[in-house]
Amino acid sequence: MIGAFSFNTSHRVVFENGSAGALSRHADSLLGDRPFIVTDKGIVGCGLIDGCLEDLKAAGYQTALYEDVLADPPRRLVEEATKMAMKHGATSVIGFGGGSSLDIAKLVALLASSGEDLDDAWGIGNAKGPRLPLMLIPTTAGTGSEVTPISIITLEDDEKRGVVSPILLPDLAILDPLLTLGLPAHVTAATGIDAMVHAIEGYASKSANNNPVSRTLAVEALKLLGTNIETAVFEPKNEDARGAMLLGSMLAGMAFANSPVAAVHALAYPIGGTFHVPHGLSNALVLPHVLRFNAPYAAADYATLAPHVFPELSVVDEPGARAQAFADELGHLSNRLGLQSTLREVGITSADLPKMASDAMKQTRLLVNNPRPVTEADALAIYEAAL
Ligand SMILES: [Fe+2]
Repeated sequence: MIGAFSFNTSHRVVFENGSAGALSRHADSLLGDRPFIVTDKGIVGCGLIDGCLEDLKAAGYQTALYEDVLADPPRRLVEEATKMAMKHGATSVIGFGGGSSLDIAKLVALLASSGEDLDDAWGIGNAKGPRLPLMLIPTTAGTGSEVTPISIITLEDDEKRGVVSPILLPDLAILDPLLTLGLPAHVTAATGIDAMVHAIEGYASKSANNNPVSRTLAVEALKLLGTNIETAVFEPKNEDARGAMLLGSMLAGMAFANSPVAAVHALAYPIGGTFHVPHGLSNALVLPHVLRFNAPYAAADYATLAPHVFPELSVVDEPGARAQAFADELGHLSNRLGLQSTLREVGITSADLPKMASDAMKQTRLLVNNPRPVTEADALAIYEAAL
């Protein structure tokens, strides 16, 4: 019997080479007269956003650009950007960039319109809106933020906290694979692994809303990501591989937006928040170890997913053994992609682990979805294995 579930996603998705430079046509009436754009200096500096800006200018829009987004975006950026959007009289918000820019754009669209206090919006379902029309244009294939109702912000004490509400799902997601052709190999690799983790954790999530749509999308996402990640890393200009990665990342985003992620992300957040390791790499560092820990409880799910990424694992019949092999192969994949494979390699020492384990336990929003209950001692043991 199919259990009850609900499924939300972005109102509209456009997938097309060059679509970012045709935003005015795709967005139509969403923009209003005075769109407000949220991005980072790297994107502006390398000219990636030029096509989009020129298109909006040619179409007569009065734009304002906030370009100060940082990785692991601190709360003050939300406040700064919201103030600037209100001063501009923003009629819409465009997030252009990696997950951080998209996450900030979501909150600016909310706070500049609803007058809500960010402190009342944290958590699940507390942000009410209304928000300004919102368009999101990802430049990495990883977070899937363009189709998730989630914004993750870093607080003063390095805690990562989320606002999760359907009101944050954008009106329009623009997927333009050409924007990702210039991504460096290590960014392609780390963000790609992040997307794979979204699919794996979404598929095996203990969430009461784990549902057949998410599971179907997660499998398709893993096929696309697993088949194309090495090509995208080693042949960066391969448009087919880049398109497949961007589509896979979006499908994984749709999956976990409705069947949320779990302990890989919970244990990754203290690595990113405290040591400023990029989100995808933080996930990659703990991924095999969390999967090995979960395997006795999630063997059937991992065994189902494994051959979609590593076809050679179809010959391993016993689900527990196949689940363990899946964890091992994901670790090997990260190595082949050139990612660091131990916490030590990113500057973490054994003395750091107890605080990280304690911080990971604060991610109750995520830990409740894990196939196996995680205690602080378990988290510490996983970090020790990953050291
Ligand atoms: Fe993630």
